[in-house]
Amino acid sequence: MEGWRGWDDYARFYDWENARTMGRRDIGFWQQLAGRAGGPVLELGCGTGRVSIPMAKAGARVVGLDRSAAMLARARTRARRSKLAGSLCLVRGDVRALPFAAAAFPLVAAPYGILQSLLDDATLDAALASAHRVLAPGGTFAIDLVSDLASWDEYERRVKLRGPAGRSGARITLIESVRQERRRGVTAFDQEFVERRGAHVRSHRFSLAFRTVSVEGMAARLERHGFRVAAVLGDYDGRPWDPRADVWLLLAVRERARLPG
Ligand SMILES: C[S@@+](CC[C@H](N)C(=O)[O-])C[C@H]1O[C@@H](n2cnc3c(N)ncnc32)[C@H](O)[C@@H]1O
Repeated sequence: MEGWRGWDDYARFYDWENARTMGRRDIGFWQQLAGRAGGPVLELGCGTGRVSIPMAKAGARVVGLDRSAAMLARARTRARRSKLAGSLCLVRGDVRALPFAAAAFPLVAAPYGILQSLLDDATLDAALASAHRVLAPGGTFAIDLVSDLASWDEYERRVKLRGPAGRSGARITLIESVRQERRRGVTAFDQEFVERRGAHVRSHRFSLAFRTVSVEGMAARLERHGFRVAAVLGDYDGRPWDPRADVWLLLAVRERARLPG
């Protein structure tokens, strides 16, 4: 299993589910950070544009990168509707090999657990090295980790959500199973989205996997990659992190090159 798999199938349901779960609670935080960046912002794993589009609307120049063509297609439609053509650029690529010039961005944003889609040390290290390369010296790498993965109960085929699918007249039910692969520190979500329109029923099944990463483990790994962890926050209003916080945000600064002698 690889963490980039599943997202193409999830794309048509992502906004429906997230409107009912994560919502917009992190958006103000990312807009403020982007507003202070003083240059273009790179979002890793921008998906359907949930974060990139509000950052661009707030005035930032944003590059959103994602590996899933289907997620990006949704982001493109939303960007067109929001008339953001000049300030938002959407790029297909992998966070492990970012296709940008060195030192191109004063801010690299990694919202909503994107780094937990990298399911082992080698792939996570590749992503951190790539982010370090494209970040300007003195620039910030901002990382939001999903905190509670390891504590999810395992269950089989539970109805998690149901509701109308926009104005289409369809109704959607999400049936979910959760498996913990404790040895690898990976939580797998098997999802079935059932769409009902009158007598017509369609089912879409796929799996997503995420890795548990601790704040201490991520901070140590960032330091090894040449970042200085400047702050660890426990909510989107800037309060400091403690082990009970349900938000885990790290702000890491790419050290400026040391002068010789
Ligand atoms: C949790 S979604 C976050 C989307 C968006 N940032 C948000 O907050 O709504 C994670 C995104 O990361 C993308 N992704 C996963 N692994 C990736 C990889 N190796 N390279 C690039 N994108 C990846 C997925 O396609 C998905 O769109």
